Amino acid sequence: MKMTREQRYRRIDQAEPGEIGMLEALISTCPWRQDYHIQPITGLLNDPNGFSYYQGYYHLFYQWFPLGTEHGMKYWYHTRSTDLVHWEEVGIGIQPGDTYDSHGAYSGSAIEKDGQLHLLYTGNTRDEDWIRHPYQCLAIMDESGSITKVDRPVISEVPSGYTEHFRDPKVWKQGNTYYCVIGAQRVDETGCMVLYRSSDLRNWTFLGEIHTGLPKFGYMWECPDYMELQSQGVLIFSPQGIESQGDWYHNIFQSGYLIGEPLDLQTRHFEHGPFQELDRGFDFYAPQTMQAPDGRRMLVGWMGLPDLEYPTDQSGWAHCLTIPRQLSLREGKLIQQPVSEMVKLRGDSEGTHMEFTLDNETRSFADFAGIAYELECEIRDFDAETVGIEFRASAGEKTVLKYDRLTQKVILDRSQSGATLGEQNGNVRRCALNADVLKFHMFVDSSSVEIFVNDGEEVFTSRIFPSKESTEIRFFVQGGKAEFQASKWDY
Ligand code: FRU
Repeated sequence: MKMTREQRYRRIDQAEPGEIGMLEALISTCPWRQDYHIQPITGLLNDPNGFSYYQGYYHLFYQWFPLGTEHGMKYWYHTRSTDLVHWEEVGIGIQPGDTYDSHGAYSGSAIEKDGQLHLLYTGNTRDEDWIRHPYQCLAIMDESGSITKVDRPVISEVPSGYTEHFRDPKVWKQGNTYYCVIGAQRVDETGCMVLYRSSDLRNWTFLGEIHTGLPKFGYMWECPDYMELQSQGVLIFSPQGIESQGDWYHNIFQSGYLIGEPLDLQTRHFEHGPFQELDRGFDFYAPQTMQAPDGRRMLVGWMGLPDLEYPTDQSGWAHCLTIPRQLSLREGKLIQQPVSEMVKLRGDSEGTHMEFTLDNETRSFADFAGIAYELECEIRDFDAETVGIEFRASAGEKTVLKYDRLTQKVILDRSQSGATLGEQNGNVRRCALNADVLKFHMFVDSSSVEIFVNDGEEVFTSRIFPSKESTEIRFFVQGGKAEFQASKWDY
């Protein structure tokens, strides 16, 4: 049942007696709770926020509406980890409901300054006419872990030329100066991002728009991010309102990147190559990056999308975050690899390894099955038309990952994956890949899969909702032969 607006904009302390207990009871019987992904204790999770390293921990917050699976009063929920793999639930990070965040503590980022973690976020407010008034706010986490809001916004006006859709500050430091990008909509209803500068994180100067080669590209850019990698500049953002085109942009909203010369902070000109989609799967949005103390650039995304219904909604929770990915650049593309720490999930297990040849057939192997596992599969020497893997499979269900050698495409098909979702946007995702050897590195959890193709050249991230009985893994070859090497670790 849909909530009314009044119900959606309640804080936890305004819940009805027993309401949270009911959600928890529903969730406890849900077959699709994840084993190793960050997921909400109750209600809805969306964007990753404040991804940072502070006092020996990686901190990762997320957008959270505790009381239901619709988008309502958003909190920042706080998790932390020493290894990027095992995450501890810390509790509420930022609670909304004050003057400048009366209708939600929206997305933002974190940076350490003077021994304290500074959280820059968008305070969402609505007036009597339900018009939004966004404020960019600051909250400070001290060494004891307690988080205090600064009582006045650090950016309280939307500059002229932009609408109320003005949010998601991402902060970084260059030399002694702080910069932040903010996602914006121009008054002509096109999306863009703007740049601010500060010397102390409290007083910010509006510098203007970042000039890209995409002046009319969707109606709003959410969750912008800027980084420098291998001497190049990379802008990441989530534009809304992009039409699908060939194999691209089939999800309701997109997330992608531009690679170019480092951003000129004086002129704000950004010379760049084409916009490229970050992930080729069904469920990925609003990613955020951080730089680890060892210099690695890492990204986490929301494994979900706005405005869609998910099968777990009826069970009182929705969505999860992706595993962290390490970023690098290769031949004009952003390469994404699971962070090396992920091997910790293997524990002491040496895994199961197999080598075999398939000739126009489908095969499965005893003990090569499961619900939550890591699977590495290399396929070589193939003259076949299609080669691939069916997983989370049973007599009636399967998720299919394959390579079509004739069209040179990787294809993910979730039309028979179990409970359906988002079918209006199609059940198949494809992307071009020119390769003689295929490597599929898969992280499968109770209700998701993340597939890293050929050492991170492409990634397909998707929720799937199979029954618990669908545990089979089948390898197949059609129209020829192929050599397989497969390794699997149970989680
Ligand atoms: C992206 C987004 C952000 C906003 C947040 C609200 O998914 O819409 O632009 O800050 O979610 O939860």
